[in-house]
Amino acid sequence: MHHFDFFNVSDDALARAKAHAKMAAEKAAHVPDIPLTTPLRPVQQVAVIGAGTMGSGIAMSLANMGVNVLLVDADAPSLQRGLQRVKDNYATSLKRGKLTQSDMDKCLGLIQGTVQMTNIQNADMVIEAVYEDMGLKQSIFRQLDEVCKPGAILATNTSGLDVDQIAAVTQRPQDVVGAHFFSPAHVMRLLEVVRGAATSNDVIATLMDLGRRMGKISVLAKIYPGFIGNALFRNYTREAHFLVEDGALPHEVDAALTRFGYAMGIFVVHDMGGNDVGLQTRKAQMATRPNDRRWNDLIVKLCDMGRLGQKSGKGWYRYEAGDRTPHRDPELEKFIVEESARIGLTRRIISETEIIKRCLYGMINEGAKLLEQGIALRPSDIDITYLTGYGFPARQGGPMYIADKIGLPQVLADIEKFYSEYGVWWQPASLLQKLVKNGQSFADLQH
Ligand SMILES: NC(=O)c1ccc[n+]([C@@H]2O[C@H](COP(=O)([O-])OP(=O)(O)OC[C@H]3O[C@@H](n4cnc5c(N)ncnc54)[C@H](O)[C@@H]3O)[C@@H](O)[C@H]2O)c1
Repeated sequence: MHHFDFFNVSDDALARAKAHAKMAAEKAAHVPDIPLTTPLRPVQQVAVIGAGTMGSGIAMSLANMGVNVLLVDADAPSLQRGLQRVKDNYATSLKRGKLTQSDMDKCLGLIQGTVQMTNIQNADMVIEAVYEDMGLKQSIFRQLDEVCKPGAILATNTSGLDVDQIAAVTQRPQDVVGAHFFSPAHVMRLLEVVRGAATSNDVIATLMDLGRRMGKISVLAKIYPGFIGNALFRNYTREAHFLVEDGALPHEVDAALTRFGYAMGIFVVHDMGGNDVGLQTRKAQMATRPNDRRWNDLIVKLCDMGRLGQKSGKGWYRYEAGDRTPHRDPELEKFIVEESARIGLTRRIISETEIIKRCLYGMINEGAKLLEQGIALRPSDIDITYLTGYGFPARQGGPMYIADKIGLPQVLADIEKFYSEYGVWWQPASLLQKLVKNGQSFADLQH
């Protein structure tokens, strides 16, 4: 059988992948049932609620395009930390020659801070970026409903909560929308625009246009756990962690991923971001998850051992003081080998090709599920989400694009094999089966 080469990309193939990305970026702006001529709501003043990591980056993105920003936090010290973060980020850009002193002054002049929610009454748009907690977000949206002027767009930067449940606490669900920025928000080019059941067309059109004016690619998603990006990402990380239990060490998984084209492997990424990101949510979910499938809690165990990543000097790798170079850590590797034994798994040698297939095909299968449910509008929207927000290798063109290149019959055959070996996580998407039956590819679904 012909074996697809995941690791070497010819110049021709590279040029085609780049052309695909360009097409995908242009297509994403088009929403079939929202004409490009839809009148937009004016956006001159934006309030950003929560001056944390995301709120300060979002404020910078807005100020960079000349919009007035009111940054709101619950208390003075948190607000001051946020405003300081904005200043520090601009100072870094200035030092790197990415912006002039006068631009920096202009931007800083556009960002004001407040701890009074009532001060946002003139905002044309609000972007909420408080902690990822449904109760907290709902209480913020109840306040917004009371304070904001009629017609103000009320956006949430939630990473995956149900936007409809947030909209439901207001009297104006038509004005509520998801605006999922990526970290750092003033740098990352992706904006997922999340359409709620009641979100009005001009709200979507305005937010997509605002993203474009910020220099970002706006991609429309419907409500689904994790929307487009994090839905696929769950499959990617899950398999990477299973691979480690099955026999591959973190540096082996990372080596295959970088050979595939990622700038960094997933375990280096975990160590950079902190293994404790989302830890509480994860621990809460552990109590109620279905027992019809395999789970993996290595990352929780690492946190319990104090292996939080770079910030604690050890995680999936170990780090020397003041240096971010990951080094293999015999202590961690011993722990992993013991864990496999504890679970009853006989560790085996895992090829680079298997590593890539398991990390990639879970994303492709999930992407097909998103398409069949209309969560993503078109395959290329998933590709551009991955290229701009998740570091997917540009030379590979995106998960759906590479699936067509491999050939869907081959992809489905492998997924069916994984399904028989590993169970329910790998249940093939019915759209994938249908395409194969009809001799079609994802490209045939493009519009
Ligand atoms: N960090 C990321 O990589 C990332 C990426 C995309 C989306 N998000 C989402 O963005 C949101 C914010 O995440 P973050 O990482 O910036 O969190 P963060 O902890 O850095 O910031 C949250 C801020 O909200 C403030 N806050 C809390 N309660 C408040 C209230 N009642 N009124 C006003 N401000 C309040 C806090 O003081 C804090 O400054 C979350 O929903 C998260 O899921 C995060």
